[in-house]
Amino acid sequence: MERRSVKQKAARLFGQWGVFFKGFLEHPKMVGSIIPSSRFTISKMLSRVKWDECKVFVEYGPGVGTFCQPVLDRLPRDGQLIVIDTNPLYIDYLKKHFRDSRFSAVLGSAADVEEIVRAHGHQNADYVLSGLPFSTLPKGVGPAIAAATYRVIRPGGAFLVYQFSAKARDFMAPHFERIDNGFEPLNVLPCQLFWGWKEPAA
Ligand SMILES: C[S@@+](CC[C@H](N)C(=O)[O-])C[C@H]1O[C@@H](n2cnc3c(N)ncnc32)[C@H](O)[C@@H]1O
Repeated sequence: MERRSVKQKAARLFGQWGVFFKGFLEHPKMVGSIIPSSRFTISKMLSRVKWDECKVFVEYGPGVGTFCQPVLDRLPRDGQLIVIDTNPLYIDYLKKHFRDSRFSAVLGSAADVEEIVRAHGHQNADYVLSGLPFSTLPKGVGPAIAAATYRVIRPGGAFLVYQFSAKARDFMAPHFERIDNGFEPLNVLPCQLFWGWKEPAA
């Protein structure tokens, strides 16, 4: 019994990595990585979220959903996880593999986050997580996403960003009042973590 479940887990993992790698081969600059994030990155990145104050969690660039289950495991029962990706291969995969009623996968660009959040019946998001390769996105897209993200986050919420290069911070800096930095060596490649905080309303 034990053996079969290990086998099943391995099949799911390699199936997931295969889909991710296929997406990378088709759009290398949009995906920006050949392997999904490690569990160390996931747990460090999510450690600063106040889950009891989180109802709307948005993720940009979920890929094959490496962060999705860990987010759903922490999210309150009446919360919602909205993930946005430009790649139909990933969105189809996510729709098939995540059946949680709190989960919604949208084919679109993170630049349209405000419209997408409104279409789900909310004015704001509590937290937004990004795995976007900011430095290789088409010109102008990174700044537009950072600005829209600041607008959509409620006061007191945060923008959580992980990337191989520290350049992502340059996109966040014009908007977020405070940015905390972190680093996770146990990831392929080691990556920079940032938490951009929107100050609570006075
Ligand atoms: C590095 S991969 C994400 C990896 C995944 N989140 C993980 O932790 O393993 C980057 C993802 O961003 C997506 N992407 C690129 N540009 C985007 C955009 N403008 N809006 C939403 N997703 C985008 C790609 O399709 C890809 O799934």
